[in-house]
Amino acid sequence: MVVEEFIKKLKPYEGGKPIEELKRELGIDGEIIKLASNENPLGASKKAVKAIKKSAEYVYLYPDGNSYYLKKKMSEKLGVKESNVIFGNGSDELLELIYRTFATKEEDEILYCYPTFIEYKLIGMAFNKKLIELPLKNFEYDIDTLLKNINSRTRIIFLNTPNNPTGTAIKYEDLERVVDKAHDNCLVVIDEAYYEYAICEDDYKELLDLYKNKNVIILRTFSKAYGLAGLRIGYGIANSEIIDYLNRTRPPFNVNIMAQEAALAAMDDDEHIEKSIKVNKEGKEFLYGEFEKADIDYVKTYSNFILFDVKKDANYVYEELLKKGVIVRSMAGYGYATFLRVTVGTLRENEIFINKLKEVLSV
Ligand SMILES: Cc1ncc(COP(=O)(O)O)c(C=O)c1O
Repeated sequence: MVVEEFIKKLKPYEGGKPIEELKRELGIDGEIIKLASNENPLGASKKAVKAIKKSAEYVYLYPDGNSYYLKKKMSEKLGVKESNVIFGNGSDELLELIYRTFATKEEDEILYCYPTFIEYKLIGMAFNKKLIELPLKNFEYDIDTLLKNINSRTRIIFLNTPNNPTGTAIKYEDLERVVDKAHDNCLVVIDEAYYEYAICEDDYKELLDLYKNKNVIILRTFSKAYGLAGLRIGYGIANSEIIDYLNRTRPPFNVNIMAQEAALAAMDDDEHIEKSIKVNKEGKEFLYGEFEKADIDYVKTYSNFILFDVKKDANYVYEELLKKGVIVRSMAGYGYATFLRVTVGTLRENEIFINKLKEVLSV
């Protein structure tokens, strides 16, 4: 089989280790907690689960390729037109569609700051694109440097706020500066996967209005606060022209029936979202306090995960935690050799995590 060199160089995406895999590998019988993929520790809304069960009866039918009811409900909720919204098989799929639709020329450059959500990079590599990767400064976006790197070949700029894995947010004024500097043929992607958590922080500003610019798309997802990661559904908000082009490259039935029904029901359950945000807030405060008591540095987060510094080989600490049934993420592969990222869990999960971490670090 003839395969291009750039394809041979790719490595499959490595996500958080699934619980079942750890059980198989280490033969652990006891409880395993996974705080590795920024999922909602409370699970999905009961209303969504009910809707999923009901929709099981209809899985012999193709889904509505236009997600009609969902689009209607979402556009009403956001106060935008239906033509401003697109759904994807997770926001991951929308990232891929954005590449496929807009980064079509060989000379196109893709700009982002790293460490960030690694898919911006991995999808770019799969499309053999020229990636311009700038470093974060003190865990934050260095917007001045980013602006200097925008040129006539820049085709897509990926901004992630709050940024995964640092949890830091980009100031609204800085987002505006990027949008203003980007030329008409340069798409600014603002990935707000953790929006529901961020927006309840006092100094995080609603940025939806930025979609009115002709070169902006905002991405959000049902995978995080809504607890529907397993169903794969995310959405994008942009001007009608951008959405129209994305719809032309979108696979016809990309969002399945269960995902559509679950998302519709989840949108009716504000209580579940409020509870999830409360549990996250309390969990963050608890973990901050415990990190401080144990003299562990951490980065303040606008999200549902915390980056922290164990000042030891992160891979070693990660492996030791695995043996104790706790799955987090080592950030060594992201260039943070002594850092790990933990998803905020339930109070009980947070306590187990902290106790096991202290055992590993002997503090
Ligand atoms: C910043 C960011 N964007 C996008 C995604 C992907 O979300 P989805 O499950 O909607 O594909 C993630 C998942 O971890 C993420 O952290």
